[in-house]
Amino acid sequence: MKSRSFIRSSFISSPNIKVPKNCCCSSITCKRFSSSNQHSRNSRANPLTLDRHSVYNRYEEVVKYARDEPDKFWAQMAREKVTWHKPFSVVNESDFKKDGRVRWFGDGQLNVSENCLDRHDRDSVALIWEKDEPRQHQHVTYGELLDLTCQVAHTLLQLGVSKGDRVVIYLPTCPIAIATMLACARIGAIHCVVFAGFSASALAQRINDAGAKLVVTADRSPRGGKMIELKKIVDEAVKMSGCVEKVLVWQRLGKKDLKGIDVDLEKEVGNQSKEMEAPSMNAEDPLFMLYTSGSTGKPKGLVHTSGGYLAYVAWTHEMVFNWTKGDVFACVADIGWITGHSYLAYGALANGITTVLFESTPLYPDPGRYWEMVERLGVNQLYAAPTAIRSLLKKGDSYPHQYDLSSLRTLGSVGEPINTEAWLWYNEHVGHNRCTVVDTWWQTETGGIMISPRPSAPEAEIIPTMAMRPLPGVEVVLIDPLTKEELPKGVATDGDMCITRPWPSMARTIWKDHNRYVDTYLTKEHGYYLTGDEAHQTEENYYRITGRMDDVINISGHRLGTSEVEDAIDQHPQVSESAVVSIPHSIKGEAIVAFVTLKDNCSIEETQLETEINAVIKKEIASFAQPENIHFVSNLPRTRSGKIMRRILKKVITTGASEDLGDISTLADPSAVQTVVDTVNKKKKNDLHK
Ligand code: WTA
Repeated sequence: MKSRSFIRSSFISSPNIKVPKNCCCSSITCKRFSSSNQHSRNSRANPLTLDRHSVYNRYEEVVKYARDEPDKFWAQMAREKVTWHKPFSVVNESDFKKDGRVRWFGDGQLNVSENCLDRHDRDSVALIWEKDEPRQHQHVTYGELLDLTCQVAHTLLQLGVSKGDRVVIYLPTCPIAIATMLACARIGAIHCVVFAGFSASALAQRINDAGAKLVVTADRSPRGGKMIELKKIVDEAVKMSGCVEKVLVWQRLGKKDLKGIDVDLEKEVGNQSKEMEAPSMNAEDPLFMLYTSGSTGKPKGLVHTSGGYLAYVAWTHEMVFNWTKGDVFACVADIGWITGHSYLAYGALANGITTVLFESTPLYPDPGRYWEMVERLGVNQLYAAPTAIRSLLKKGDSYPHQYDLSSLRTLGSVGEPINTEAWLWYNEHVGHNRCTVVDTWWQTETGGIMISPRPSAPEAEIIPTMAMRPLPGVEVVLIDPLTKEELPKGVATDGDMCITRPWPSMARTIWKDHNRYVDTYLTKEHGYYLTGDEAHQTEENYYRITGRMDDVINISGHRLGTSEVEDAIDQHPQVSESAVVSIPHSIKGEAIVAFVTLKDNCSIEETQLETEINAVIKKEIASFAQPENIHFVSNLPRTRSGKIMRRILKKVITTGASEDLGDISTLADPSAVQTVVDTVNKKKKNDLHK
């Protein structure tokens, strides 16, 4: 059976959209690029298109169009980026205020996997799998990826997976993971990728919450030269969950140990047809869910849907990274995070470009790993996290200088605030001052990049560490944290960042808990989307994201809720209570410090307890959630109503003093503060003498 040809009527119905045929599309070398050149002057007379040349050169005009005519703007964007089976006739039916409903292109139909595969040239390279093993990579063409996706899709159907079912993917970043995501998309199953660094308990919690009937995993996974026993972790997780019917196992290394409900992936997939018609899905059919941490409670399964998500990530991938067909795009995030979903996978593949799957770590086998890969693969856009950049800059300039990095044109940063030193180093020693550095701000919840220097600023005006201005269609305001008043634009100020209007790629709900979605994200006062981040606004309305306003900690770009870590610590039988705060960390951005009170009869030594508590955290969450320091205190400072005052703990740990603690009039027992100060200082002294 041949893949169905696309119905292009919606595409044709938009006569404005003309991508210049003979344009190279490549960064500042493109003659069409400069705002002062002929192309720009000509384009002013032309109808407004949403290709990157138009947006770069006419940013203000596009922003105004998006503000004045949001439905027309988003419809045009969605028609340009997505091939629809059935064109949509309604654009935005969202209502933040009434029921927290978010709905885009509601009556449109498409197939996401078809958009990412079938419409591209079969022979061009879709994936380059950069394996954990140094200097080893493998190419997968669009044709091969389509064949594999269809085979996996048939396998899923055969295993009883149908539209709407949840499939948990617990795999490293590799082609079979991408094919499984796209296979789910092909048949309408909802994939739920769980970062393969999470423990069995954390995996089980996600499997159970999602009610997944199938888990796809591998025997083992090498990461940074170490071996992660994925299958054993899955076996343990499956024992803790009641819903898994089958486990599909791929052989990454070594031997598969199959039993009971396990199914051999290679064997099953190998028997299947390489063709499958792409059925029509509704624009609002769920595409995937992804768990992330909030400030309270257990991790939440954010649900993303199909049409609006795909259009937005494809469009922003083009706007921000400014690739040319034939480029090699390397987003070095893991597929277990939203960055891996939106840019490594969906954005890049919808645009038909070559995307790198980086399975390793930045320091393995040495700190030249990224740079050697850039040279060997000819990477043109690199998208990395500030933590990695900071850890590499600490190793000195000689590593990037050993390699030819001249292929690079765009350097992206994501996931946490980037400090000036890291920004400048990235720009100078990696980009040789000729690349565009884009500090992109967004979230699992937003689905795609919301604030970014490109396309919002002429390249020459990009200010280090500033995410600059929102993309067209994204309306940002700051709210005064105390009065909840909207802060005026055009003045330098700080506040809680909100987005006033819905946009196509935002998460639609929290799996099985829409009330939590409404309570967490939609402000009662204004009916805005509350990001949870604090930002600084300049007079020019440029934004710098300064950190979280809630109890979410960002360790090396991994989001964790303080309560999640506290829950894990409290599982130790000798722990009575715990409180967790974050402190600045020179590489990880933030690190955790825990304060623990013990049960009265506890006789275990503190160093032993520390080891045991760390083991519990690793078991319950992951090793990246382990604290830098654990302080054992006899009492925690709390308000008269019983709330632990983490603010005080944070202040003590950063200053070591009991003065200048702000308003402590609500403290139930002020002596608790001194106890904490004494414990912290004693530990610091001991550590110094070690
Ligand atoms: C933080 C990652 C500063 C922020 C895509 C946000 C950033 C959280 C930036 C989302 C940035 C992300 N500058 N902080 N450029 N990008 N953050 O859901 O606190 O893993 O709310 O999504 O990371 O993390 P998440």
